[in-house]
Amino acid sequence: MGIFENMRKPKGKLGNIQLKSMNKEHTPVALWNLMHLDIKSDDIILDVGCGGGININRMASKAKKVYGVDYSIESVKLSREVNEEYVSKGKVEVLEGNVLSLPFDDDKFDIVTAFETVYFWPDIEKAFGEVKRVLKPGGIFLIGMESNGSDNLPMKISQKLIDMTVYNDEELTQFLENNGYGEITVYLRDAKNKEEIVKSNGEVKRIADDYNHRAFTDKLVEWMTIVAKK
Ligand SMILES: C[S@@+](CC[C@H](N)C(=O)[O-])C[C@H]1O[C@@H](n2cnc3c(N)ncnc32)[C@H](O)[C@@H]1O
Repeated sequence: MGIFENMRKPKGKLGNIQLKSMNKEHTPVALWNLMHLDIKSDDIILDVGCGGGININRMASKAKKVYGVDYSIESVKLSREVNEEYVSKGKVEVLEGNVLSLPFDDDKFDIVTAFETVYFWPDIEKAFGEVKRVLKPGGIFLIGMESNGSDNLPMKISQKLIDMTVYNDEELTQFLENNGYGEITVYLRDAKNKEEIVKSNGEVKRIADDYNHRAFTDKLVEWMTIVAKK
């Protein structure tokens, strides 16, 4: 299995190394994504496609309980390791599972997150419906992405090398609307102009953005966070 295939479904030793590297490399975009989420101390959260588990760790410091799910056993193992202390206290639980058939009851979570993973989901509309099934009424779905569409060099190259689809905000908004989500807000980070573009209710606003965590791709792609309500 090659380096690129390991991003879609990490496997074996190389998968483990890449997951650890993603925990580091995705930090700037993930912390920016998380700025758009209001986590309360009694929230029960699910992180889908949890990878190396670092975002579970970040959210568990604020929430009541965080679950992780990933269809790669390597991701499940490392997420448990990274969150060892929380797992031993019952505050974090990580399960093997596919987003198309989540191993949870209906209406269980206040928040479901998906960082850097929807590119790989096989039937995205069905997957968004499955996420909605496990959200409580009024629950929040957050999508975090390192890119808004594939019209930039890093994503053009990635799409050639891996079986992935780099959606833009309009496509993702449409999939969410088709599943009956409401109050959809899109946040795009325009790092070149140090601005954040906020789209909601048909309105577009530009606000100053002084966020200064830097990533390798920082100036090349537009980061995206989408927040939607069940
Ligand atoms: C690029 S990694 C991102 C990991 C982590 N969320 C992060 O931001 O670093 C994508 C992860 O999504 C998982 N994944 C992809 N498709 C999935 C699916 N259909 N169901 C569950 N997990 C999936 C992969 O196994 C991998 O761990």
